[in-house]
Amino acid sequence: MCGIFGYTGHKEAQNLIIQGLKQLEYRGYDSSGLAIQNGTHAICVEKTHGKIKNLEEILKKTPLKGRTAIGHTRWATHGIPSRENAHPHLDNHEQIAVVHNGIIENHFDLKETLESEGVRFRSETDTEVIVHLVAKYYKGNLENAVRRALKDLKGTYAVAVICSSEPGKIVAARMDSPLVVGIGKTENFLASDVSAFLEHTNRVIFLENQEIVSLTDNAVKITDIAGRAVSREPVKINWDPAQAKKGGFEHFMLKEIFEQPSILSAIYKERVNGLKVHFDELKITASKLKSIKRIVIIACGTAYHAGLVGKYIFEEFTKFPVWVDTSSEFRYRDPKVGKDTLVIAISQSGETADTLAGLREAKKKGALTISICNVLGSTIARESQGVIYTHAGPEIAVASTKAYTAQLMILYLMAIYFDQIFKTLSLGQSRVLLKALSHVPALMQEVLDMYKKEEKEWAANAHDFNVRYHEGLERYFSADPAGRKRSPNGFFLYLGRNINYPNALEGALKLKEISYIPAEGYPAGEMKHGPIALIDENPWVICIAPKSKTYDKMFSNIQEIKARNGIIVPIVTRGDTQIHKVKPLYVVEIPEVEEIFSPLVTILPLQLIAYCIAKEFGEDIDQPRNLAKSVTVE
Ligand code: M6R
Repeated sequence: MCGIFGYTGHKEAQNLIIQGLKQLEYRGYDSSGLAIQNGTHAICVEKTHGKIKNLEEILKKTPLKGRTAIGHTRWATHGIPSRENAHPHLDNHEQIAVVHNGIIENHFDLKETLESEGVRFRSETDTEVIVHLVAKYYKGNLENAVRRALKDLKGTYAVAVICSSEPGKIVAARMDSPLVVGIGKTENFLASDVSAFLEHTNRVIFLENQEIVSLTDNAVKITDIAGRAVSREPVKINWDPAQAKKGGFEHFMLKEIFEQPSILSAIYKERVNGLKVHFDELKITASKLKSIKRIVIIACGTAYHAGLVGKYIFEEFTKFPVWVDTSSEFRYRDPKVGKDTLVIAISQSGETADTLAGLREAKKKGALTISICNVLGSTIARESQGVIYTHAGPEIAVASTKAYTAQLMILYLMAIYFDQIFKTLSLGQSRVLLKALSHVPALMQEVLDMYKKEEKEWAANAHDFNVRYHEGLERYFSADPAGRKRSPNGFFLYLGRNINYPNALEGALKLKEISYIPAEGYPAGEMKHGPIALIDENPWVICIAPKSKTYDKMFSNIQEIKARNGIIVPIVTRGDTQIHKVKPLYVVEIPEVEEIFSPLVTILPLQLIAYCIAKEFGEDIDQPRNLAKSVTVE
């Protein structure tokens, strides 16, 4: 939930740290800071409340010199966002500085002991105990002091430490929070995520749990918690650093929405060869897969919605029954999974604490585990028996878009792959499916081109909503002449059926996340079992109604909304004339696509509606309040 960046080398560190932290800002953005060794055996710290640009402003006025530094961008867990609670934290002699991502669960006990030994605490954070422990155990060797301090800690951490008596050195360690080393020439980097230093190097070493790394400008030494040397070769990451930049788009979210057709087409080309699907990195044999009888998918948030679509896909293409669970529920039940179960964990970041815990639980129960992850070398990817990478490139906007469609693409291909192994469908049938799937990115591009042409109208519709929203609020607070309060306009209902039902949930989640407007996603058939009570002339109802076997049912639902004066915004297949009978507010047309693949296309207008409304409302689209990109705490 926080971002860590470290640099030691031949360049001035301050701006490198700021740039690195900006790449990590998606992980948390309520405060930030850095500690720098200025070469005169002193550590200087600057930190402040708010976004990294606040820190940058301070440092522009009073720059800090030095070539070894650690920085941090925070998402508060213990203690409010404030300068005092911002990292780095210093020991009482101001010789040692620490940044931390994770939670120290026994910090109260440790604090009590340290206070009884005369230590003065300056913050409300759990992190501060780490720096005082390192100081307590420091006897002239930082690495040993860190190793000793770690033995006292319970919880999760990625920590980086510098000490004024050991210039040019950063010591870091991890336990269940990500930490990656970047190997440069006479310089080395450390970060929570590869994208932070990708501009400088693509040679990386992923640290494992309970490993300690000591970095200088020309050496990287890894040891385990017992002090034994660990040897690990760097791996080369093939992400393009330009992918982590906005590339002319106003927001990362919009850029990532627009990247989707090319990413999906690249995934297809990478995974399909001569109309056969292959997953080279999946080190699970076909005979092992043949032992499975059912599939359980676990994930959180958007990845959970991808899992729900996955259920429809697998049930259509394969013989397996499929269950989908949010990871946080799965892990605290007693899920009946065993040797005959394949558990698929879906996670963009590969670090989501609940999904990781669910994966571990599944492994403990003997299930076969495969993860679908975007971030290379992430914990979930490494801990599952097989991994399939989405290769969607770094997703920077907190609201997930391209990771979702990349996950769907992998699920389609996985189902067809299973099909090829289990021969559920004939070769001819699976070829037809693959051919149809190969055309989907071009259909997605058509939707995006249409948006570009109609951008002004989309903005006008969002403005219209804004006006009605504020009128509704006024009406609500002033009450009508009869003294009744009327429901305000600020509410969206998203309806979908069958394989497009999960997109209703995803569309609503996108809107909630970035515009803070209440939104509900529902299977359209459920509407009359409750949500129809909400319908009057106020809420906007987004109806996902492409050509499909359930279109007629969907159309009946739309008429029911119309009969109650609801505002209808349908997403329909181009050429649908019937929809105009219900006098929608406006109609979003998409190209014709096979029903099974339609979620890849219907999701685009939903992402764009959320984007346009958040933009109209002037919200912080890429970094919405209270959220962080990867949720590494429970
Ligand atoms: O990294 P993960 O895919 O495991 O993250 C799961 C959710 O935290 C994530 O999808 C979240 O819901 C996003 N903010 C959605 O836009």
